[in-house]
Amino acid sequence: SITSFLRSTILFNTKLKYLKNYQKKYIHIALIGAASKTGKNTALLLKQNNHISKLHLYDDNTSVLGLGLELSHIPGGPIVTAFCEDQSLPDAIRNAHLVLMVSRIPRKLGNTREQMLATNALPVQRLCKAVSNINPEAFLAFTTNPINSIVPFASALLFKYNACSPCKIFGITHIDTARARALLAKTLNVNPRSINVPVIGGHSDDTIIPLFSNISPSHYRVKPCQADTLTRLVKKCGTEVLNYKLGNDSAVLVLAWSINEFVEKIIQALYGGCVVVNCYATNPHYGTRFFSGPTKVGSHGIIDTCINFQMSYFESKLLERAVPIIHRDVARGEEHVNVVE
Ligand code: LMR
Repeated sequence: SITSFLRSTILFNTKLKYLKNYQKKYIHIALIGAASKTGKNTALLLKQNNHISKLHLYDDNTSVLGLGLELSHIPGGPIVTAFCEDQSLPDAIRNAHLVLMVSRIPRKLGNTREQMLATNALPVQRLCKAVSNINPEAFLAFTTNPINSIVPFASALLFKYNACSPCKIFGITHIDTARARALLAKTLNVNPRSINVPVIGGHSDDTIIPLFSNISPSHYRVKPCQADTLTRLVKKCGTEVLNYKLGNDSAVLVLAWSINEFVEKIIQALYGGCVVVNCYATNPHYGTRFFSGPTKVGSHGIIDTCINFQMSYFESKLLERAVPIIHRDVARGEEHVNVVE
């Protein structure tokens, strides 16, 4: 019929526009905390992405200048420029489509992520101030812990500075989906890249909720006892890595890999595609204001947040327990604005 012909023509033109844009290569990314271990590994992965035209590296540590120089010796990929010291932060983020904040002091052995708020909040505040002055339109993504509080903290600060676009602020939680997929693939003996597991809630041992009842493709199934074991494993992956590293550091490589996976998807969104990322962001559906899970993103930011998963009894009990904790973490983040301002 005419209608279906018109519909398919429109769809085809939209796809064509997306493809044309995708071939263009104009994405500009600012990586804050680039001289940290996570920053360096992330920078190396981003340098290999031909859809990025400019990669700005910022760190307070002067070694970022050496990192920038070294990366500029790798042929191809984005043009890399390094920035150091407070006064160059505005130049580092100017015109960036995506500002990625990966700096953080890793937690100590025996500590929880929540205990890192006061330690990690100041660089976040400095970045938010700069973003609000220089580039309020940018997508802003954090892996700084505690994500459950840092994202609400950053949002509240930006709100205070009259520069808050809630649909453009993300806590990257691809690390949790990466872990869930890797562990599940081992159990099922399948390729981890061919499966997906939504992980909802927040990013802390008590709030990470992998939904093994919602594996896709849906013909993959695990028994309830396997799901329980996998869930417990995924929840404590970060703490386990910290213990194995004897408290000298938390996870670095899997984090960099996950940030890169998130960035690849965001680039597609910025080019006009519609993608699903796993992130902790504004979400009104669970009574906590912020919530993590599969989130639909387009070129102007978040389009749709996750809602209404069919859950097992075990998962719904985990959710019941996680909601008040996330609620508390959100409040802590928002209240921390009064401590720093
Ligand atoms: C992780 O999950 O590995 C990170 O949040 C780092 C940490 O402190 O556990």
